[in-house]
Amino acid sequence: MSIVTAADVEAAGARLQLRPGQRLTPLARDRAKELGVEIVEAGAAAPAVPTAPSTSPAATPMQPAKDASASARPATSLAASAGGSTRPFAPLVSGAMYRRNGLGPQGANGGGRRPRAGVVGAGHVGAMAALRLAESDLFDHVAIVDVVPGLAAGLALDMWHGAGLYGFSTPLSGSDDLSSLRGCDYIIITAGKPRQPGMTRTDLTAGNAAIMKSVCEGIRQHAPDATLVVVSNPLEEMTHLAAQYTGFAQSRVLGMAGVLDSARFCALVGLTGKARPQDVRALALGSHGPEMVIPLSQAFVGNAPIESVLDASTLSAIVERTRESGGEVVKLLKTGSAYFSPAESAAAMVRIMASGSNEVIAACVRPQGAYGLTDARVGLPVRLDRRGLKEVVQLPLRPGELQALREAAARIAQRIEELAQLPSAPSAPAPAAATA
Ligand code: LAC
Repeated sequence: MSIVTAADVEAAGARLQLRPGQRLTPLARDRAKELGVEIVEAGAAAPAVPTAPSTSPAATPMQPAKDASASARPATSLAASAGGSTRPFAPLVSGAMYRRNGLGPQGANGGGRRPRAGVVGAGHVGAMAALRLAESDLFDHVAIVDVVPGLAAGLALDMWHGAGLYGFSTPLSGSDDLSSLRGCDYIIITAGKPRQPGMTRTDLTAGNAAIMKSVCEGIRQHAPDATLVVVSNPLEEMTHLAAQYTGFAQSRVLGMAGVLDSARFCALVGLTGKARPQDVRALALGSHGPEMVIPLSQAFVGNAPIESVLDASTLSAIVERTRESGGEVVKLLKTGSAYFSPAESAAAMVRIMASGSNEVIAACVRPQGAYGLTDARVGLPVRLDRRGLKEVVQLPLRPGELQALREAAARIAQRIEELAQLPSAPSAPAPAAATA
């Protein structure tokens, strides 16, 4: 008898034909349901493969964009590496997948060592992200750090008290000293002030830049091999500063916002009653702010183009509300900003890297030639590997979508240039502190 795992299901494409003697694990069966992979029992006749209609979503993203740049991999690879599946990008790795340690996660640095994760800032986002990481049981340890003495230690202990109830066994620790990040492979940076009602994310720049500087100096010293996921706002500027202050390779400094904004779009589509959020696939690119770009040519409900499910004015209202979603929550909360969905978005990025899942997500990275963009920081479709950015994925955007993305990148570049005026501005790019 041989065992078919969740990883086999993920690699199978639309259908998995079992051979005599093959058995599916319960986790693999759950994953097949989640991904809509058809399991054909051994001996059962496999139905004929339906031919994708020419308007199917598979057809669209598989055409390389006309002006695809050399540095980005054409989207043809999406279908190839998904085993011929018609899904251009799969639902995000769920924490539930790992609760039984089903995939036997390997260390970021190979050798079977489980990776270590850290979270800087034990506010609502940081605390929730740490819990989601621990819950996944993918990590050797989750370290939380906060400047407020006792806060991170108290929260870590409280989370650990619930370990049996949540069903995880990953130890957590809390400290007010960045040295406790020693050995971390992944670090989520949430440190900084959140928005208050009436504030834009840009209003936070000077204050959060100073905080980012001291955090990054600590990370450089104590966790020079870590890959960073920046959550602090304003997102693109803070991601840029984190790269400058640490001197880490560009591939190891990622900004979280695309996952969150994409999820918000999917959730808002869910409010129409026409689809469940988990059946919607979309990518929010550009900035985590007014220049957010959600290319509808790349958005689907199941395998149907979203524009065949919802009319143009509904879609444009949903895009607009997605752009404002962070502010909408700030206004309701009155103190502080959203945390459940931002925390899960950051944790999902780390889980994706640690598990080696190959899905396409949106993340804030340096374009380095992709989409012909200004080389600042911008939200783009990417694949991650265990060390960070693996590649920017070139999707065939419509001319208007590409134009909007270029405008977003140009505006972000302007804001990044203005960072040079800050008292905490890095005088020159810091030399690389570690192996890239
Ligand atoms: C928000 C914060 C994370 O959009 O920027 O809620």
